[in-house]
Amino acid sequence: MPKIARAAATFGWLFCSGCPTPEDPAACFTSPDLDAASCIEAFSGELPEELAATGCFSLSEGLLEPAPELIPYDVAAPLFSDSADKQRFLMLPTGSAVTESNDQLALPDGAVLFKHFARAGVPIETRVIRREGLEHRYVTYVWDGAVAELNTTGARVVLPDGAWAVPSSADCSYCHGADQPLLGVSRAQLTRSICVDGEQVEQLDLWRTWGIGDFVSDHPLVDPQGEGTLDERARSYLHTNCAHCHRPAGWAVDIDMDLRFEQSLADTRTCDTPNQYFAGTSSPALRLSPGSPDDSSLVWRLSTDAEQRMAPFGLHTDPDGIALITEWIASIEACPQAR
Ligand code: HEC
Ligand code: HEC
Repeated sequence: MPKIARAAATFGWLFCSGCPTPEDPAACFTSPDLDAASCIEAFSGELPEELAATGCFSLSEGLLEPAPELIPYDVAAPLFSDSADKQRFLMLPTGSAVTESNDQLALPDGAVLFKHFARAGVPIETRVIRREGLEHRYVTYVWDGAVAELNTTGARVVLPDGAWAVPSSADCSYCHGADQPLLGVSRAQLTRSICVDGEQVEQLDLWRTWGIGDFVSDHPLVDPQGEGTLDERARSYLHTNCAHCHRPAGWAVDIDMDLRFEQSLADTRTCDTPNQYFAGTSSPALRLSPGSPDDSSLVWRLSTDAEQRMAPFGLHTDPDGIALITEWIASIEACPQAR
């Protein structure tokens, strides 16, 4: 794997978040111009080798400006991602829209999703998913200063505040499974408000107005570190960080555990349920022992330094996530009866 050491942070990004306030006056997203074609050309044939030269993003006073046709969107429950800041954009071929089939959202052919990652203002990678016929292509662009090169093999990056693992294209599909290629573009994740043209608006209403998708809101996933009951926040955390593998057809299919938000606690098969794997290690024997986080492998897997730490691919533990799942398990008095 190539090892990329970062030059000093002479090149930085700012991401806008929420509507401008006197303390944080950064302008937020503006409505896209869906007829513009300043970026889509670059992504219509072979994938470009270098992202910064495509015209898809430019930098203005530290703020990363998307090309006019890029549609900013945000998710209700973001993945932890080694505490990176992230920003997401959707690009649709002119006149096309996102559709729904088999209870999942589907991109039209040629659509592209971008997800930027930065830590402390230092750009790290921009991940890309492109719909190609019936398939999806997963690649990433690794930033070094103001240049971002196509990478499919993975890399280790040394950032000013610690290491970062860039997944290979093969790694992407452990989480973005063939039967569930999109994880953030789902009704549950898109059901939230977003600040566009200086106003906080419901995201799915905007999609309807812009003619790019007509979907009803889904069950309320919440921001694990935001508002919501302890149960909603903990279950949203497990959903967004774990359930892409721990669901019936996910990568960890051999393990009979389903961490999706919509399952009842009994149906997650965690409460008072023994682990299937590694019974002989220092892991507690039960996945979730009610009232007893220290005796729950869900907490152990989040916090251990051993190679069994979850989720795979990240290099760092998530102190806020550990605190949340610990508090949640401590609050559970007894296991519900399985149905
Ligand atoms: C550890 C699991 C995991 C791995 C590995 C992973 N992703 Fe993701 N990805 C997610 C989750 C969960 C989301 C949705 C939540 C979010 O965006 O914070 C997501 C969202 C995205 C999005 C936004 C669009 C969407 O709705 O899915 C893009 C683009 C993306 N990933 C690309 C990639 C690429 C390219 C790779 C490999 C280089 C990759 N991801 C590897 C879990 C993963
Ligand atoms: C990229 C896929 C992936 C993600 C994401 C993931 N896991 Fe896992 N998990 C696995 C695999 C594969 C195993 C089986 C191998 C092993 O035991 O390490 C496993 C095993 C486990 C086990 C042991 C279960 C048993 O019965 O032995 C627990 C508990 C667990 N994971 C919790 C989590 C938690 C909590 C998260 C989210 C923070 C998470 N996992 C995210 C793939 C994943």
